Amino acid sequence: MERIVFNSDGKSMQYEMLIGTSLNEFGIELCRFLPCGRVFVLTDSNVAPLFLEDVSAALRAFGIDVLSLVVSAGEENKRLETVQSILAFLLKGNASRSDVLLCLGGGVIGDMGGFAASVYMRGINFIAMPTTLIGMTDSSVGGKTGVDFCGVKNAVGSFHAPVLVVCCTDFLKTLPLRELHSGIGEIIKYAVIGGDSILNLLQGGIINNAALISACCEIKRKFVEEDEFDNGVRRILNLGHTFGHVFEAVSRFSLSHGEAVGLG
Ligand SMILES: NC(=O)c1ccc[n+]([C@@H]2O[C@H](COP(=O)([O-])OP(=O)(O)OC[C@H]3O[C@@H](n4cnc5c(N)ncnc54)[C@H](O)[C@@H]3O)[C@@H](O)[C@H]2O)c1
Repeated sequence: MERIVFNSDGKSMQYEMLIGTSLNEFGIELCRFLPCGRVFVLTDSNVAPLFLEDVSAALRAFGIDVLSLVVSAGEENKRLETVQSILAFLLKGNASRSDVLLCLGGGVIGDMGGFAASVYMRGINFIAMPTTLIGMTDSSVGGKTGVDFCGVKNAVGSFHAPVLVVCCTDFLKTLPLRELHSGIGEIIKYAVIGGDSILNLLQGGIINNAALISACCEIKRKFVEEDEFDNGVRRILNLGHTFGHVFEAVSRFSLSHGEAVGLG
């Protein structure tokens, strides 16, 4: 298992990203961050039938109780109404400030769950467990959370870093080809910014390629550690996003995020 440590100057963001192939590798590490002996899991309607039971079983094996909420999949659901349902789920389960939300899904679940965690009781911890290539190479790290609002991408959000990112590359096995291509849209960005290392890795194949995920996140790490709140050098990571966000919105999200960024 590989570890990348994120550690910004401001010290508001200190966490590890773990990259491994199988869910079994992460149990003990996850437990370290679940002081209440339970976890609130947020996932979407596509990911739940694939992985929710396996993740729950892996946690229960360590004596962790699992409460779960499944929301409708898709960018069109990355909005405040869904955040309200996440907050209601936490409240109904009597989540305290010591409880933890685990976001199991792609960038939409990570962004939305991270935002809900940032505002529930003025902020609780969350763990990111990305299941898409975009989630593993980009959206789960860096601490940007949020939702779309009034047709504007990520118009409402916060900086709230996860306490742990668990990247299980086995999850990529079920990812539809279109979503893999979408991930490549963001990876092209890293190839432009980060040079030949990414291009060489791309030639070796993508699925289960922990080295590719690690290389992308190492590039992102350098930018976010230097400029956690996106006031300067981190903006380089927005390459392709200015037009990309417009393309995504104008297409009413029929273009995926990665496709739009690739075009941008
Ligand atoms: N916070 C950040 O820094 C950051 C960075 C990049 C992108 N983003 C955001 O991430 C989102 C895009 O991420 P995404 O492409 O992961 O979107 P997504 O979460 O919508 O996932 C794409 C689709 O794949 C499905 N899916 C997820 N995992 C699967 C799996 N393992 N097998 C089968 N299907 C699976 C989902 O249900 C969804 O239908 C956008 O909202 C974008 O704004 C955020």
